[in-house]
Order: sequence, then structure tokens, then C-alpha cells
Amino acid sequence: MSQTYYITTPIYYVNDKPHIGHAYTTLSCDVMARFKRLDGYDVTFLTGTDEHGQKVEKAAEVAGVSPQKFTDQVSQNFRELTAKLNFSNDDFIRTTEDRHKQACQKIWSILLENGHITLGKYEGWYSVRDETFYTETELVDGKAPTGAPVEWVEEPSYFFNLSAWQDKLLAFYAENTDFVGPESRFNEVKSFVKGGLRDLSVSRASFKWGVPVPNDGDHVMYVWLDALTNYVTATGWPVDGANGDAEKHERLWPADLHMVGKDILRFHAVYWPAFLMAAGLPLPKRVFAHGWWTNEGQKISKSLGNAIDPNHLAETYGLDQTRYFLMREVPFGNDGIFSVPALTQRINGDLANDLGNLSQRVLSMIFKNCDGIMPAQPEKPAAEDQALLASVDALLDTVRQHIDKQAFHEALRVIWQVISNANRYVDNVAPWALKKTDPARMAEVLAVLAETIRQVAILVQPVMPDAAAKILDQLGVDPAARDFTQLAGQARLANGQMIAKPEPVFPRFVDEADINAG
Ligand code: ME8
Ligand code: MG
Repeated sequence: MSQTYYITTPIYYVNDKPHIGHAYTTLSCDVMARFKRLDGYDVTFLTGTDEHGQKVEKAAEVAGVSPQKFTDQVSQNFRELTAKLNFSNDDFIRTTEDRHKQACQKIWSILLENGHITLGKYEGWYSVRDETFYTETELVDGKAPTGAPVEWVEEPSYFFNLSAWQDKLLAFYAENTDFVGPESRFNEVKSFVKGGLRDLSVSRASFKWGVPVPNDGDHVMYVWLDALTNYVTATGWPVDGANGDAEKHERLWPADLHMVGKDILRFHAVYWPAFLMAAGLPLPKRVFAHGWWTNEGQKISKSLGNAIDPNHLAETYGLDQTRYFLMREVPFGNDGIFSVPALTQRINGDLANDLGNLSQRVLSMIFKNCDGIMPAQPEKPAAEDQALLASVDALLDTVRQHIDKQAFHEALRVIWQVISNANRYVDNVAPWALKKTDPARMAEVLAVLAETIRQVAILVQPVMPDAAAKILDQLGVDPAARDFTQLAGQARLANGQMIAKPEPVFPRFVDEADINAG
């Protein structure tokens, strides 16, 4: 039995269309999921939509349709995005599904029966945009610290005894040093918890669009308790419920990784573990909080209306090009400023010049100078062959270490180091000059290069699945021989297969506006 790997994205609010920020989070999970599958894991990758709460209820009101109809429409946009961006999620959860409402009511009942939830009265500030309660002292100029407007709320409410979990949370953090990444964010979480926790309002009585509280028809569950529960719902929990699946739950829970943006880390690293401990469920192994894409310094957001459409990017610049840019440009964990010049520079530099030209040059020479037949690896590799092959054979280990820390930019950086080694090797060994003087050596050199490109293409599959497949097709690599058991010197490129006339995989991006201006 292979090891399981369960990874989740946040479930996105359906108050508006998806934008580049959502695409970014789901893309990073897609890369993790594809990497782990190729590395032999049995992967389950979950994404979906968060459809209850006041924010969604209000958006539906503005659109003039019922919340159910509204969420059906907007959720569909998110589902379509996963297909358009080639995301390989195994499940798509909606919080309005029965399986999820049952899980929410179950978790509520356990918390209630164990005395962790009690009825009280909430008096304080609430931000609908953030779906978050704020204290007076947290407000900045009468607004939430996020800049969102707040309103005064006074209503009966059930409370979760969050304050009782402070020491247990701190003990858990101390024992699980990889629980939150990046480390700086983990430190913020720890100081927040050390600063003391207040009991958390977990029900609302002033509107209806939510999961009904099982023991009290006047209340719906607070949207965050509802939303977080999606991660266990999708494992087939509660196992004895109508949609239960004991085998699946056992196999998937606890999750290996919850990927989130830094805006919602507190919910995942403080509230969620506390809910789970109180419900007697195991805690997830890791939460990673990445940074924000900004547009002229402001967080790109649905609520602020300054969004960049990921479909437009993929259509204009190419899907795999866009995926590569998002994973390479900004150190994962940091904020990034979105810019088209940076995107075109990556496309024309890293992709068209470095990888695209390498592969196009090598395949063209094989096509023209070796009668289109893949030459054999050298029997006695020269020193420079050994050096290049050693660098590409060592990649899997290094790339895996970076991926396990969600350092996607580092993983790509080390792959591109080997690509520049290969380009330097081409320039130094000059196979075109060997054509007349030593055709046997030319064939060896091309074979070493083709082998290097094979391993690079296998390794970039998680980020650029289509482009990598094209390169591997051109090399004549069996589709059944493209996983990571084929790397690190465990296998070499077959020879003797005919190759077709190579077509460039990464065209240069030329801006039409520039042509017209020039
Ligand atoms: O918070 N840059 O949903 P949401 C990078 N429903 N990532 C961004 C981003 C940006 N500018 N904007 C959004 C919710 N994101 C809740 C989650 S989970 C149980 C419930 C990404 O629609 C990032 O992952 O507001 C962020 O955390 C998430 O979208 C918030 O999406
Ligand atoms: Mg948000």
C-alpha cells in the first residue's frame, strides 16, 4: 500500500468570481498533489466553495436571487476554473451539500455534549466582509484591522470555550515544530495564543443563511465553524452518518497539508485545532500560509474589486506559462506584486530561451543529423558528460526537499540551474561542429543532452503538465515511464526510437501593442 497524502485548499466564498489569488492557492496545491502522485503517494486533493454566512447572503440579495440559486451560479465559476487551469483536484466540496451539513451538525453536537459550547450573548463588532468578530481594541480608526467596515452586533449566541484550549494549543505547537509554515508566521500564531484567548461566538441568530444549530432553531452556525469542518466532511465523516465512509476517513484523516493565505491563518492554526481537540479528532499535520498578490500595493480581492482574471492570463500568455510564473516569481510565503513585464520576462527568458531553446536545439539536431533516431547514451561518458548527468541525477532529492517545505520557487530555481548547466555544455561541446569531425561523439553528446531534458521534463510536470508532456512525447518517452522512479539515474532515456520533427513548446511572447508601437 502506498502512503496517502491529503491536501486541501481553503474553500472560497462565493460572493464573486474567482481571481488570481484563488488560482494561486489552488495552483500551489495542484503542484504539491501532482508532485506527490509522481513520487508514489496515494493523493487526495480537495477544493471547494464556502457558501453560507452573511457575506454570501448579502451578495445574493444584491444580485436579486435566492442564496441557493446565487451560490449554485458562483460555485460553478470556481468549478470551471479548476478545469481551465488544469487543476487535478479529486473532490470539490460545497458547504451547501447534505454531506457537509451533516458533518457540521455532528461536530456541533459533540462539542455541545462535551460541554464546550454554551449559550450566552454576543455584544461586539462584526465585519461581514471578513466574517470575523473584533474587539474594540482591535479596531483601527473605527474599522477592522483589515480595513473592512464593522457593525455593532448584540444578539444571543452560543460560545465555544476557546480560552480553555490555550495551554493545550501551546503544548501542541511546541511538540509539532513543522505545524505552521513559514516559521515567521508560526511565531505570530504562538504569540497570539500566548496573549490569551477569548471564548468564540459560534452561532448567529440575526439571519438564516447557514447550517441550523441542531439544538436551537433560532440559530445558524458561525460560518467559520461550518467552513473549517469541510476538511473532515470530505473524508467521509461522520463515519456512521448517511454519507459516512470509515475506510476513507481512516485513510485520509488527519490531513497532511492545509494550504491557506496569510489572511486566514488564525482560523486554521488556532480555532481549527481547538475545535478538533474538543471534538476528539486528530489534528492536521501542517498548515502553510502563503503571501498575497497585490495590485499597486493593495491586496487583490473580490471585495475590493481590483481583481486579475486568471482565465485571461492563461488565454493571453499560455496556461503553463502562467502556472510557471506564479510558482517561480515570488518566494512562496512572501507577498508579490503582480506585473505583466515580470511575467513576459519569465516567459521569454526561463521558458523560451533557457528550456525551450535547449530542447528545440537538441531535438532538431537529432532530427537532422541522426536521421531522426534517438542515439544511445555513451558507453564511456566523458568527464563533462558525467558532470552534467550527475547534476541532473541529483535533482530529485533537492527538489523533493524544497517541495516538502512548499518552497516551489526554490525547486524551480535548482531545476533551472541544471538547465543552464546543459546550455553551457552545449556551448562548450558544440555538437554542430562535431558533425564533420567526430559524428560518433556528436551522437553521444546529443544523447546526454536528451537524457538531461528527459529528467528536467519529468520534474517540471507538476508545474507545467501539458508542456512537459509535449517535450516527453518529442523525446519518445513512454507515457508509463514518466514518474519519479525514472529519475536519479534509476533509468536512462531509451534509444533507437524515431522522433518527429520537433515543434517549439515555448513560443516567445510578443506584445501586439509593442509591435504596433514599433
Ligand atoms: O477566506 N493573494 O474565502 P476567500 C493571494 N471562505 N491569495 C489570495 C488573495 C491574494 N490577493 N486573495 C485571496 C475565505 N487569496 C474563507 C475560507 S477555509 C475553511 C474558508 C486566497 O474567498 C488565499 O488562499 O476570502 C486566501 O486565504 C483565500 O483566497 C481567501 O478566500
Ligand atoms: Mg477573503
